[in-house]
Amino acid sequence: MSRHQDTVALVTGAGHGIGRAIAERLAGEGAAVTVLELNEAWGLETVERLRAGGARAHFVKADIASFEQVETAIAEASAALGPISLLVNNAAFTDAGNLANISLASWEREIDINLNGTYHCVRAVTPLMQARGGGAIVNIASINALRYFGNPSYSAAKAGIINLTQSVASEYGRHGIRCNAVCPGSVRTDNITWTIRQQKDPQVFEKLAKWYPLGRVGEPDDIAKAVAFLGSDEAAYISGAVLPVDGGLLAGMNVMIDEFILESRND
Ligand SMILES: NC(=O)c1ccc[n+]([C@@H]2O[C@H](COP(=O)([O-])OP(=O)(O)OC[C@H]3O[C@@H](n4cnc5c(N)ncnc54)[C@H](O)[C@@H]3O)[C@@H](O)[C@H]2O)c1
Repeated sequence: MSRHQDTVALVTGAGHGIGRAIAERLAGEGAAVTVLELNEAWGLETVERLRAGGARAHFVKADIASFEQVETAIAEASAALGPISLLVNNAAFTDAGNLANISLASWEREIDINLNGTYHCVRAVTPLMQARGGGAIVNIASINALRYFGNPSYSAAKAGIINLTQSVASEYGRHGIRCNAVCPGSVRTDNITWTIRQQKDPQVFEKLAKWYPLGRVGEPDDIAKAVAFLGSDEAAYISGAVLPVDGGLLAGMNVMIDEFILESRND
C-alpha cells in the first residue's frame, strides 16, 4: 500500500527545483498532485512528468502574491482532483542583497511573495480542509529563518513562516489540520540565486560542503522525503514542528571548531 494513495496534494512552485522533487515524490507514493506555478511552461512540464509516471496531475497557473488568484486556483484544483488533503507551500522568490543595499521595493516584494503568498494559500485552503475533516500543511521555510545567513528580507519572510506555522497548528488542530515547517540548508538547485553564485564560482556547492557535518549540500529529494513524511499519516501526531533538513549545519560550528579548537577533531 502506497503511503500517499489517498492524498490529494497541491504543491506551489512545483515547476522547478525542490517543488518539482516534492511533487514527483508525492506522486510516486500514490498522491494526486496539483502543480501551482507562475511559470506555465515549467508547471506543465512537471504535470507531464507526473502523468508519465502514472499519477493523476493537474496544472493551475497562479501568482501566490495575489489572494484572488490563489483562491481561484485552489477551487479549480479541488474541482479537478478532489478536496485538497495536503498543501505544500514551496514557492518562493529572492534576489538576495543586504540591509545596506536592499531597495524598499525589493524588501516588500520578498515579504509579499514569500510570507504573504504562503499566508494566502493557508487562508484559501483551511476552510476546505476543515470541511473535509482535516488535512496537512507543510511550509518550506529555510535555515535563514533560524539564523543569519545573509539575505535579510527573505530571512524575515521565512522567519514569519515559522510563526505562521505555529499559529495554524494551534488554531486549526481542533479541526484535524496539522501544520509543520521544513527548513532546508543549501540545496543544489538552479534557482536564480544559486545560478548567479555558480556563475561567480562553479565550485560553490563543493566549497560549501565543508560547513555541513554530513559533508555535502542537500539534494532536492532530501527535502521531498521530509515533506512526504510530514504530510503522511506517519506524522499524525506531529504539528507545529520546525524541522531543519540541513545535513547537521545548525547543530554546531564545525568549521570554527576545526580551525581554532583543533583537539576536537576525531578523524
Ligand atoms: N535551494 C536552496 O538552497 C534552498 C534553501 C533553503 C530553502 N529553500 C526553499 O525551498 C523552496 C524551493 O526553492 P528552489 O531552490 O527549488 O527554488 P526555485 O526558484 O528553483 O523554484 C521556485 C519555484 O516557485 C515558483 N514561483 C516563484 N514565485 C512564485 C509566485 N509568486 N507564485 C507561484 N509560483 C512562484 C517559480 O516559478 C519556481 O518554479 C523555496 O521556498 C526556497 O525558499 C531553498
